[in-house]
Amino acid sequence: MIHDLWYKHTVIYNLDLETFMDANGDGVGDFEGLMRRIDYLYSLGIDTIWLSPFQPSPNRDNGYDIKDYYGVDPRHGSLGDFVEFMNLAHNRGIKVLLDLVVNHTSDQHRWFQEARKDKSSPYHDWYVWADEPPPDLRFESVFPGAVDGTWSYDEKAGAYYFHRFYPFQPDLNTDNPDVRTEIRRIMGFWLQLDVQGFRVDALPFVLESLAQHELAEGKGKPAVHFEYLREMRDFLQWRRGDAILLGEANVAPDQMRPYAGNGSDGLHMMFNFYVNQYLFYALATGEVQPLIEALEATRILPSCGQWAYFLRNHDELSLDKLTQQEQEKVFAAFGPEAEMRAYGRGIRRRLAPMLGDRRRIELAYSMLFALPGTPVLYYGDEIGMGEDLRLPERMAVRTPMQWADEPQAGFSTAKKLVRPVIKTGPYSYRQVNVASQRRDPNSLLNWMAAMIRLRQECSEIGLGAWRVVESGSPCVLALLYEWQGAYLMTLHNFSPQPQQVEIDLEVEGGDTLDNLLVSGQSQADDSGKHCLTLDAYGYQWHRVGTPRYILERERA
Ligand code: NOJ
Repeated sequence: MIHDLWYKHTVIYNLDLETFMDANGDGVGDFEGLMRRIDYLYSLGIDTIWLSPFQPSPNRDNGYDIKDYYGVDPRHGSLGDFVEFMNLAHNRGIKVLLDLVVNHTSDQHRWFQEARKDKSSPYHDWYVWADEPPPDLRFESVFPGAVDGTWSYDEKAGAYYFHRFYPFQPDLNTDNPDVRTEIRRIMGFWLQLDVQGFRVDALPFVLESLAQHELAEGKGKPAVHFEYLREMRDFLQWRRGDAILLGEANVAPDQMRPYAGNGSDGLHMMFNFYVNQYLFYALATGEVQPLIEALEATRILPSCGQWAYFLRNHDELSLDKLTQQEQEKVFAAFGPEAEMRAYGRGIRRRLAPMLGDRRRIELAYSMLFALPGTPVLYYGDEIGMGEDLRLPERMAVRTPMQWADEPQAGFSTAKKLVRPVIKTGPYSYRQVNVASQRRDPNSLLNWMAAMIRLRQECSEIGLGAWRVVESGSPCVLALLYEWQGAYLMTLHNFSPQPQQVEIDLEVEGGDTLDNLLVSGQSQADDSGKHCLTLDAYGYQWHRVGTPRYILERERA
């Protein structure tokens, strides 16, 4: 097993420049602002930043509608600022991942403008066209309720074009070799500017073959071109050996494996949407068995592969993989009002208001850090920011970062902002902000930094083998990790009641547990079992065996 797979022992932080920090006072966040806050991120302990799209864009889908892949939207600064930022990040040992949004472009992209103007233009075939909308509508919109259908008529072209997402995001035709060449050029461009890899947006759709005649004839299911993923991976690795692909693919467990390939020809990392949904199920119901089953069902990665785990992100919390009954329980707990829901399958809220109770928020984050993969944080969740349900769709969770109890939350000096700051209620910037939490030793922010440090010290979680240990409680998830002969165990109680557990580790040194969060050790009883009590929503992290410093002290 290779030890230097950096993506297996990193903590990723996702932010959107637009709402992170505005330095020039125009109401939109920028690279200059991010550079001023780089030490905040450094001291939080994260070591990879995933930047949401920042390229020139009409910005109708939060930047996921790009009109020029080789630049920086002037609202955020210049390419020069990007390179300055990269330098600061690397000085602090922080790696940078970019979103690679190549399933579609903006309809304002020059390629689409050329494509629609003239059927004989080489760009025409860069998109997916049909003279008549296909007879069967196998292709569902990704945003039901907000977008009807996936084909729109373009007057200029006199034909229908395919868009998996919004109508202003025409899908690129990745069957066309010129499109593939261009995508390589885009990757190569940013790799040359030192990024460490990409979060590949909407990957299953990028790999879908959308050959026009098949679509128009409504034949069968679209083929998924995994060979194209291999091609991307080859190119990436050829250009930069330690760069990675982190795929966004919310697919069922039986569909996952081909995305990972054999470890050297697919994704390095993939978001585990399936476990995410069952984690929320466990938080909603207190039952851990379905979460255990989800973890086991996704135990499919080759040894170089890694899961990326998250709690919330910039989209809705999708519950699409749960059964209807399971979905209802999560909706009832975390999205009881219709306005909290989106697309009939998700919840458009931030973590803190959903969970409410500080103990539960800690439980959720401790669990995230303990899941056998790489944790990904969403900006603002480290201070427990809330959502603004007056904003449409997913915008609710994309409000400006709350830096201080100052006008505009310290995010900007402008009167009008790209999106309003949260001004009222318990999650307003007056109550929830970085400046006041920094000063408070008991704040969520300081707790989070301590947990990130703990996670960074326990790299057996990301690198090692793991198994579920019988805890005797239906509400407690016990995980044991092994890495190079050393063991670590974590316990998480999803119940609002304290729980007693009996743990029999059956591994070398397993009769002693050293608690990493509060001082104390546990010794197994005569039958080799540890009897432990977890508080309501409690969590514990234990190193297994007598710690080296104690052995050394005894020897001295
Ligand atoms: C997935 C992104 O997470 C989402 O925000 C975006 O709308 C779609 N892909 C389309 O790019």
